[in-house]
Amino acid sequence: MDNFLFNAYTKVWFGKGQVNKLADSIKEFGNKVLLVYGGGSIKKNGIYDDVKSQLKCFEVFELSGVEPNPKIESVREGVKICKENNINMVLAVGGGSVIDCSKLIAAGYYYDGDPWDMVLDAGKITEVLPVIAVLTMAATGSEMNKNSVISNMSTNEKYGTASMKMIPKVAILDPEYTFTVSAYQTAAGVADIMSHVFESYFKKTEDAYLQDKISEGILQTCIKYAKTAIEEPNNYEARANIMWASTNALNGLCGCGKGGSWSCHAIEHELSAFYDITHGVGLAIVTPSWMRYVLCEETVDKFVEFATNVWKIESNEDKFVIANMAIDKTQSFFKELGIPTKLSELGIDETHFEKMAYKAATHGNLKNAYKALDVEDVVNIYKMSL
Ligand code: NZQ
Ligand code: ZN
Repeated sequence: MDNFLFNAYTKVWFGKGQVNKLADSIKEFGNKVLLVYGGGSIKKNGIYDDVKSQLKCFEVFELSGVEPNPKIESVREGVKICKENNINMVLAVGGGSVIDCSKLIAAGYYYDGDPWDMVLDAGKITEVLPVIAVLTMAATGSEMNKNSVISNMSTNEKYGTASMKMIPKVAILDPEYTFTVSAYQTAAGVADIMSHVFESYFKKTEDAYLQDKISEGILQTCIKYAKTAIEEPNNYEARANIMWASTNALNGLCGCGKGGSWSCHAIEHELSAFYDITHGVGLAIVTPSWMRYVLCEETVDKFVEFATNVWKIESNEDKFVIANMAIDKTQSFFKELGIPTKLSELGIDETHFEKMAYKAATHGNLKNAYKALDVEDVVNIYKMSL
């Protein structure tokens, strides 16, 4: 296991009605708040009113309309409001897109140049306003991590940047807030959670036993509860378990001590950068192709472990047969959740594969991945996903 620092910076209030803790939890940061949210779901489901009732003693400014796959233009707008009004903290109410956008706004307050510079070079992030998250959908783990993924559609770029200072100081996680998330977004969220776990589970490090057991538990939680959350959107047990799975899949716990680059995320981010698709859907499509592509003598034992411990496959067949059974099960699971299984279903063809593969392989440093991938490998994975 590699050396690591694990530090939980976020105060997490989890459960029904925990929004009531918001005002007391944030007053230490000041009284001028930038409230950031998306396309309006929080106004329809009452979350906006809950949050506003907590902010009676604060001076509140608003940035609405943050898009899924948040765009750099929204960040620029938010930074402008913060600078003009000497904002003290940024309160994100939404999913990963709203939280990621809020993180870069909070960093942009202290940065003199264009915020896009901080996406291309995380070293430019110096100070960051406190970020607070009221989570409304389970997927990214952004509520307890250092990442911010921002898109620049004018250059077809979607990149993640990171700073420990962007980790939210407080996060409110009320599973009831996710009751209104559509079946499609719930499914995409589950695929994203599972992919975050896969990215650290399939790594060269072989002795991180505890991290892998936690990872298998999160995967089994997704498998156990995803369909219930889709079929019975108000099922608290299912929503709560998926919400907590999403936070723990990407707060550093599963990946600590397991270095190396992430593969499927680099490959998927290019699809979103060129076609603005839903992140979790892209992952559900490319993941089984990636698994089949990297399955070889060197990796097969890990896939058998995945088959045995996660999918509970008991078989005396050859280990490659067992590994392929697990990959097939993973793909059918995504299909059963209602996620498209092919790029062609999203209207994506080969047009940009070379360009996307080049960016994924270089920016994603895929030579350092679980199984090293070059541009040609990534093109092959895109082709297998057609
Ligand atoms: O815009 P609103 O009205 O908020 O609607 C959203 C949006 O349309 C809707 N939604 C959210 N909560 C809802 C709801 N609808 C009804 N009821 C609710 N309670 O869901 C749609 C998708 O929201 P979004 O925030 O885009 O989804 P998600 O949480 O999956 O975030 C995706 C973004 O996060 C990035 C992705 O690349 C993508 O840009 N990621 C961020 C990561 C991180 N910060 O660590 C890691 C991930 O791997 C990922 O890359
Ligand atoms: Zn993801």
